[in-house]
Parts: sequence; structure tokens; C-alpha cells
Amino acid sequence: MELYLDTANVAEVERLARIFPLQGVTTNPSIIAAGAESIWDVLPRLQAAVGKEGRLFAQVMSRETCGMVDEAQKLVAHVPGIVVKIPVTSAGLAAIKQLTALGIPTLGTAVYSAAQGLLAALAGAAYVAPYVNRVDAQGGDGIRMVQELQALLELHAPDSKILAASFKTPRQALDCLLAGCESITLPLDVAQQFLAAPAVEAAIVKFEEDWQKAFGRLSL
Ligand code: E4P
Repeated sequence: MELYLDTANVAEVERLARIFPLQGVTTNPSIIAAGAESIWDVLPRLQAAVGKEGRLFAQVMSRETCGMVDEAQKLVAHVPGIVVKIPVTSAGLAAIKQLTALGIPTLGTAVYSAAQGLLAALAGAAYVAPYVNRVDAQGGDGIRMVQELQALLELHAPDSKILAASFKTPRQALDCLLAGCESITLPLDVAQQFLAAPAVEAAIVKFEEDWQKAFGRLSL
């Protein structure tokens, strides 16, 4: 599987890359805007943080097919190997087709239904990003969408993979992985929650207390 962080916080990526088996970093316009640093400055820094083998994702801003293709080419020229995120609209699907023909890898983003995700995959997107929590938040079932999309891709577009996105809890992410999707991207707070169960710290404290009582020290 592939694990990504959904952030543009370079210091946190450097720190967590030492802890997690990270494949890279995903961003979106809101994430870049929150960092208040130019996209052209922060993307190379993020690439350095995940290393040469790490994969970086950044999104176009244009709403038109021509503009999306143009911005995608600028992103690739600036950060070779970057995967370009394209919102799955009519214009986006046309852009994904053109970029695929040009050999530029894309991720179909802002996916709110299995049907929309399937279209992105059929257009040639290497990755498709269903928005799990955003679907849940509007009364839908994000995990069910991922399950359906996973089954559809396996049947009809096996060259594309799901990069499940928009998580608020570790449970949502685990359910996506159990549904068979190969990659997930976690915001920093959810990534931290994978290790932050209070019971873990309590168990370690009890080991220390017992050891200290018996041997008067905290080393072996
Ligand atoms: C992924 O493509 C999206 O940028 C992101 O995961 C959305 O997450 P949010 O719903 O927490 O903003």
C-alpha cells in the first residue's frame, strides 16, 4: 500500500517521514494557501522532504481544459515527477485525457461518487481521490463509495488506483484499506491519532513503574 500525508507543512513532513513509511505528500489549493508560501517555493521543499523517491501531488487552479493542461505542464517542469491533481469536472476529464496522452500522470480529485471516480479512471487518471469524510458530512456513505469504486476499478480500469482522501478519523482510513484501496492520504492530525491512543502511554507508564519499583532504575 501507499501512505501519504495531506499537508504542505515541510517541518512536519520531515519529522513524520522518519516515523511513518511514507510514499510522499498530497496537497490541494486550500492546504497550500494555509501555509501562505508560494506554491513554486513550497513544492520543491516538500519534494526534498520526501526524498527523490517520494511522490508529490499538486492541483491545478484553472477551470478550463486548456488552462489545466498549461498549469499541469508548468507544475511538471518545476517539479519533475509530480502527479497533477485535476478536479473531475467535464473540463477536468478532457484535461486528464490530454495529459495522459502527453505522458503526464494525473489524479482525479474532488470525487464525491463512484461513477465520477470511474470516469476519471477511464479518462486515464493514474489515481482517483474519493473524499470520504466530505461525503459522510453531507449525509452520504464515504466508505461505501470507496467500496463501490474499488470494485469498479478492479473490473473496468485496473490501471488506476484509489488514493482515498478527506479523513477525520483513523477508522475511516482503515475501512478504506479494508475495502481494498491501495493508497490513502492522511491529514497531520489523523496521522498522529494512529499512534495517540491514551491506553498505549498508560501501558508504558505501568511497565516503568513496575521496573522502577523492582530495580530502582528505568534502563535494562
Ligand atoms: C485530497 O485530494 C483532498 O485534497 C483532501 O484530502 C481533502 O481533505 P478535507 O476534506 O479534509 O479538506
